[in-house]
Amino acid sequence: MAAIQPLWFLTGNKGKLKEAKRILGPLGFDVKALEINGQIPEVIEPQASILEEIALSKLTQAREILNALGKGGDAVMVEDAGLFINSFDGFPGVYSSYVHSTIGSEGILRLMNNNSDRRAEFRALAALWDGKKIHIGSGICPGHIADSQVSGNGFGYDPIFIPCDLDSNGEPLEFGTVGMISTDGIPFGGTSIEVKEKFSHRRRALQALILSLGRPSA
Ligand code: IMP
Repeated sequence: MAAIQPLWFLTGNKGKLKEAKRILGPLGFDVKALEINGQIPEVIEPQASILEEIALSKLTQAREILNALGKGGDAVMVEDAGLFINSFDGFPGVYSSYVHSTIGSEGILRLMNNNSDRRAEFRALAALWDGKKIHIGSGICPGHIADSQVSGNGFGYDPIFIPCDLDSNGEPLEFGTVGMISTDGIPFGGTSIEVKEKFSHRRRALQALILSLGRPSA
């Protein structure tokens, strides 16, 4: 299949854009932020209980923006992610963005105080319009919530999220199992982007998209 040039990404999150460029760039995708006059367009985030519904609504809006810009034939992508905490029945989940902008990672740590079950997972759902049809890719990164924040790299909840170790094939192991690949208990925020990529829900979601597009994965 011929390279998609360019691939517009509707996101206001520079961290997501950087990660998507790193993963999709080497596969021939020219990932660019979808902007109008240098500004990220406002999109309506629907109240929905699943990531796919939110992502598909944003993809429809992204296609309308591209059409209005006269680029209706180009490929466009959106991606929605969230932090799902086991002992909170998945909260903040689809509300992760609002929760992060209000109480932040610090607030999650306060809510988790005295909570011995710290298991959580990141989920990502990427949706891409290739000019003819919609492709969907999803990815999960299981892990747990740290006792305290680290500063350093990443964005969002990276300072408090420690991923589960991976086996020799790069697949996540059960919580508490020691694997070949590990951050040694360090949250994403204390690792490099290269290390995060090995575990990342986003990388898995984008790889699933690539498979759906019929391209070799990274
Ligand atoms: P959204 O997909 O941009 O709506 O993300 C929801 C919330 O989860 C935001 O606060 C993001 O910062 C956060 N988030 C999404 N992906 C990640 C990630 O890879 N690491 C840390 N936080 C993330």
